[in-house]
Amino acid sequence: MINEITIIKPDDFHLHIRDFPDAEKYINDSSIWFSRALVMPNTLPPIDTPEKMIAYKKQIEASNEKIEPLMSFKILSSLKSVDIINFKKAGALIGKLYPKGVTTNSSDGIENLRELYPIFAAMENQKITLSIHGEDPSVSLFQREKAFIPKLEQLTKDFPNLKIVLEHISTIEGVAFILSSSDNVAATITAHHLLFSVDDLMGGPFNPHLFCKPIIQTVEDRGVLRAAAVSGNPKFFFGSDSAPHIKSKKECSTSAAGIYSAPLAIPVVVEIFDNYGKINQLENFLSGFGADFYGLSRNSDKITIKRKKWKVPSEYHGVVPMLANRELNWSLKK
Ligand code: DOR
Ligand code: ZN
Repeated sequence: MINEITIIKPDDFHLHIRDFPDAEKYINDSSIWFSRALVMPNTLPPIDTPEKMIAYKKQIEASNEKIEPLMSFKILSSLKSVDIINFKKAGALIGKLYPKGVTTNSSDGIENLRELYPIFAAMENQKITLSIHGEDPSVSLFQREKAFIPKLEQLTKDFPNLKIVLEHISTIEGVAFILSSSDNVAATITAHHLLFSVDDLMGGPFNPHLFCKPIIQTVEDRGVLRAAAVSGNPKFFFGSDSAPHIKSKKECSTSAAGIYSAPLAIPVVVEIFDNYGKINQLENFLSGFGADFYGLSRNSDKITIKRKKWKVPSEYHGVVPMLANRELNWSLKK
């Protein structure tokens, strides 16, 4: 039995920290476990110009020196291909595409991928990764990721040199698509899609703190996701999609989609890898394959995680985390 493991400090390749001043609390929570975080641009208003992206980065850097922000911009239909050059100069790692209405803050999202072909061509040229919330909101909830895959297949044919990340994959079909595509296509996997199934969300009383998009799916989907995560295939790496909403926005009749997991996602992932006897693949999944895919060097700092129980707080700054008040088996060794 392994009781302690030292790995390169992880990266979170998919994180929501919202706007300042609240963002400071959330980035502080993330900095305990993560060396770098790819921050998402679906703030209100969105990060949709190089100037806004640079200003957001500076605010993050000023509020926390321990974690390095990696930057994204939101792809809107108003975006021009010449803007892509400026985003590249400003240091953007990804452009994030949300289909219109698919999730939190996506009413300004995209309706027609074809209209964006000049943008995709410019991103391919500038070597900016296209990050996609891959769901089709026009079909039934549990079919949304599956229904988006033909669009992705077309996109990968039309832009073979464009790097694409299918974010927070949640289904058997999502995993199969990643496995069948080229090395330019990869996926992030969250702790919550690895840990839970739809039964935890609403098999008993509905748990709004497990409500997110894409929705947490079946036990069969979860099994395939787990197998992908522990497989050692570099196309699958960690992105928490930690997405804080204050308690009153979750515990109400129009619950916001998003799960706050940043303070405890790593212990959850460690537990799953340990149960699979795959602790040896943990470092690659949390701290290696994502950096490799994005052409970044792996971090030099390390963390040690030990088998020691702790109780997840009921709230962090007014946000109820996933697994609030529950006991976890793995802790950060300080
Ligand atoms: O559940 C989600 N919440 N999924 C997303 O894609 C966005 C996120 C948010 O911003 O709250
Ligand atoms: Zn997200």
